[in-house]
Amino acid sequence: MNMVFLGPPGAGKGTYAKRLVEMLNIPHISTGDMFREAVASKSELGKKVEEILKRGDLVPDDLTNSIVKDRLSKEDCKNGFILDGFPRTVAQAKALDEIMRSLGKDLDYVIYFEVDEEEVVKRISNRRICSNCGKIYNLITLPPKVDGKCDVCGGNLYQREDDKEEVVRKRYKVYMENTYPVIEYYQKSNKLFTVNGALDVDSVIKEVLNIIRR
Ligand code: AP5
Repeated sequence: MNMVFLGPPGAGKGTYAKRLVEMLNIPHISTGDMFREAVASKSELGKKVEEILKRGDLVPDDLTNSIVKDRLSKEDCKNGFILDGFPRTVAQAKALDEIMRSLGKDLDYVIYFEVDEEEVVKRISNRRICSNCGKIYNLITLPPKVDGKCDVCGGNLYQREDDKEEVVRKRYKVYMENTYPVIEYYQKSNKLFTVNGALDVDSVIKEVLNIIRR
């Protein structure tokens, strides 16, 4: 099952993808995570994208398309994947069509999680992430049992550098200008499904499962 998760920053794409990949046994491919890993490892790619991520701007399409093409060609994607955070421009959506064609695959579902700007800012300012296993917390809706520590592995929780309110608002603006047209692009196909991302996490996951089990 080949799926794309679309939605503004903080819509919960990463949270839902992490839960669903366990149920569906397919990989979660997040371009944001790939770029953050590149920055942390100080690779050539990391040096190119570090400042872009800090500002909340988009990484150029050619760099992004090429890492996605490499990743989707890997063996673990043969039974499907959840692509989170890509495509983010209409040019990336067209590139993804081309990548899928070249791999002899097709997209099955594009799921759009609809959430407004104020909810996004509230969620992201309270987001904390485990530095060890990547589990995503929220100080209001999903707090850890012990302050600052991951429930699963005991790792330290941290706040992303691009999660400051002014950067979040910039990311939302970038999303409305560049990524919202991607929803319109997929509306022309019969693959786009809209889910109310303002619901609680379990209800959103249930909605997604209803869509893919229909
Ligand atoms: P990326 O990492 O993809 O960030 P994003 O799309 O802005 O999304 P987030 O990770 O912030 O949010 P999410 O929707 O995954 O929400 P989460 O589940 O964490 O990209 C970062 C940067 O990389 C970009 O700015 C850009 O520079 C670059 N980049 C990445 N892809 C690119 C591309 N294709 N092209 C160019 N550049 C690219 O949840 C958020 C919080 O809300 C958590 O605390 C969670 O616990 C909570 N929460 C989640 N769901 C719910 C719910 N239903 N109810 C209540 N709380 C909830």
